[in-house]
Amino acid sequence: MTRNTKLIAVLIGLGVAVSLSYIHPFGNPRAVPVLPHESLLRDADMPEQARQVLVSKCADCHSDTTHWPLYARLAPGSWLIDRDVVMGREHLNLSYWLDLSQDRRDMLSTEIVQQAQKGAMPLPQYRTLHWNAKLTSADVAALSLLTASSEDTDLALSGDPSRGKSIFERRCTGCHAIDTDHEGPRLRGAFGSRAGTKADFRYSEALTQSSLDWTDVNLERWLRDPDAIVPGNAMDFSVPKTKDRADVIAYLKTIK
Ligand code: HEC
Ligand code: HEC
Repeated sequence: MTRNTKLIAVLIGLGVAVSLSYIHPFGNPRAVPVLPHESLLRDADMPEQARQVLVSKCADCHSDTTHWPLYARLAPGSWLIDRDVVMGREHLNLSYWLDLSQDRRDMLSTEIVQQAQKGAMPLPQYRTLHWNAKLTSADVAALSLLTASSEDTDLALSGDPSRGKSIFERRCTGCHAIDTDHEGPRLRGAFGSRAGTKADFRYSEALTQSSLDWTDVNLERWLRDPDAIVPGNAMDFSVPKTKDRADVIAYLKTIK
């Protein structure tokens, strides 16, 4: 083949791929008007950090604001992308979040947090094309806020610091002290600080990179199940009773 015939063959191939992409064996998800990503969930009652993760890492398949890059115009790849978007929207379409009942939103929030913690979403094929779409531990923590009920916050705010002190002494001092590092870091000033930032303590990478601040809600989740909020952390301990957690948090607040 001469260079020209090769070029023509390539062009014909491209033409065929583009034309075939107008066929949508899995349904045509591109028919809906493309709305700006930024407007998505703007009026939703959810923590801003969680909203940002959903918009930047999930909305391409789970909303009507899908971005269609050029390679998504080439069959047969385009069909696979169509399929992911059709199925993704079927399971969860964030463009209609506000139209859902509170029960349905709660259910989906739980699923979102579960998928994020398992590392199941975004789908692997999406992560290979969008190399920065993988969820960081900060993203997982942000999404986890979706299921923090106001009950958690209320309880955390109503803790009894003197009861918390005795729980601390019985349960935490095996690994923690207030001013010295042991297996766990010193805890003076932990409340309100950024996680994993006490100088000279060797934290797990997961905690250092979590970008979490130790607020009431985050401490509540950490003490309930550290792996759920920071997967891969090094604290092998939890406090099962809600009241105990609230009291310990109230005590931590007093050691500034
Ligand atoms: C490449 C497209 C794509 C991206 C990006 C994506 N998803 Fe999905 N998602 C899907 C598809 C397809 C399904 C259908 C589930 C299946 O059968 O695998 C799904 C299903 C789900 C479900 C429902 C699971 C169930 O059991 O019903 C949840 C929740 C979810 N995704 C959350 C997310 C979150 C959170 C993100 C962002 C961090 C995300 N997805 C990013 C395509 C995607
Ligand atoms: C078995 C040992 C162990 C016990 C018991 C334990 N911790 Fe920890 N804790 C750790 C370790 C290790 C870390 C560091 C985790 C990491 O780097 O991922 C940690 C980290 C923390 C942090 C984060 C501090 C920071 O600087 O970011 C807080 C807050 C905390 N623990 C509170 C508690 C409280 C409150 C208790 C008791 C209810 C407790 N821990 C019981 C081992 C323990």
